Amino acid sequence: MSTLVTGIGELVTNDLSLGSGLLGVRTDAALVVDGGTVAWVGDGSDAPAADDRVDVGGRAVLPGFVDSHSHLVFAGDRAAEFEARMSGEPYDGGGIASTVRATRAASDDELRLRLARLVAELRAQGTTTVEVKSGYGLTVDDEARALRLAAEVTGETTFLGAHVVPPEYAGRTDDYVALVTGPMLAAAAPFARWIDVFCEPASPHAFDGAAARTVLGAGRAAGLDLRVHANQLSAGPGVRLAVELGAASADHCTHLTDADVDALASGSTVATLLPGVEFSTRSPYPDARRLLDAGATVALATDCNPGSCFTSSMPFCIALAVREMGMTPAEAVAAATAGGAAALRRTDVGHLGVGARADLAVLDAPSYRHLAYRPGVPLARALDVGSLT
Ligand code: NIG
Ligand code: FE
Repeated sequence: MSTLVTGIGELVTNDLSLGSGLLGVRTDAALVVDGGTVAWVGDGSDAPAADDRVDVGGRAVLPGFVDSHSHLVFAGDRAAEFEARMSGEPYDGGGIASTVRATRAASDDELRLRLARLVAELRAQGTTTVEVKSGYGLTVDDEARALRLAAEVTGETTFLGAHVVPPEYAGRTDDYVALVTGPMLAAAAPFARWIDVFCEPASPHAFDGAAARTVLGAGRAAGLDLRVHANQLSAGPGVRLAVELGAASADHCTHLTDADVDALASGSTVATLLPGVEFSTRSPYPDARRLLDAGATVALATDCNPGSCFTSSMPFCIALAVREMGMTPAEAVAAATAGGAAALRRTDVGHLGVGARADLAVLDAPSYRHLAYRPGVPLARALDVGSLT
């Protein structure tokens, strides 16, 4: 079954053989989707016949957003913590414990329902690929459960048992790391593609460089690939550890030394920036311009979670990146699509070249620029010829 999409006023392909500029843009375009993949891209006037036809009426079409960092399996609510932060309370990860309590107490069906609602919310804003982490269970059974539920909605599942040290292990970080790298990893690994760790010596709740190295090493030995929560609250060891170990992504990258920037620019680790976190914790934004000018690959993601940032909106992150982080609209859109794909080591999403998954986002606007130009306006949605995975 093939579908011809016509009337595309502006098509972002992220394929330089198909269009111009950083985003491979072409105007007055059409594309054919066949069997869930892009089969043809060209001028509307050359469009071939297909079984079905969708006319988008001059709107812009782009690759669906690739949200490479989220925490969607949780229960509870931390609106009061957010409100306190807006009055000057700092964020240090301590509130995670309250989400852990609520998540442990929730039934599978309650978690599944919340997850499904969030996934629908993402898709309604143009996201077609999402990574989902565990990290609010922090027992063997609760972490395995979170990943089992996450695997029902995405193949991009990440074991984050090393999110924080749970209250029952207070003062016994080594014992908790032994649990994470032993029985918890064994129970989680069948449902996970990735392993992650909150490497943040500046937080009394998270993990230092040595513990992070232990966690990541064990994960790799169990067949998982690596990602790291790095340098969110301070210029700690996370970024350089991520690059040294060949992690796919170092996420946050808010506080970077010159050595961190050099490491990201010379290695294969993507710098994933999460500007919704700085918005929601009233913190200084990461310097995307510095990373791009140094030659690093940059991704944008939401970090959607109940504590540090409860947005599911990639367009909001794009607008923040342009307004606050020195990115051009084209760079921000590239980071939210191709950048996210690179952070997940995916070549089938994040672009619309022939053979790519037909994951399309359509804007109620004539150009990708409107994603930053019209902040807060619900312009983007996934076009229903693909599915969220
Ligand atoms: O990516 N930094 C650690 N973890 C999450 C926040 C989790 C929470 O506060 O609930 C983050 O910001
Ligand atoms: Fe996170």
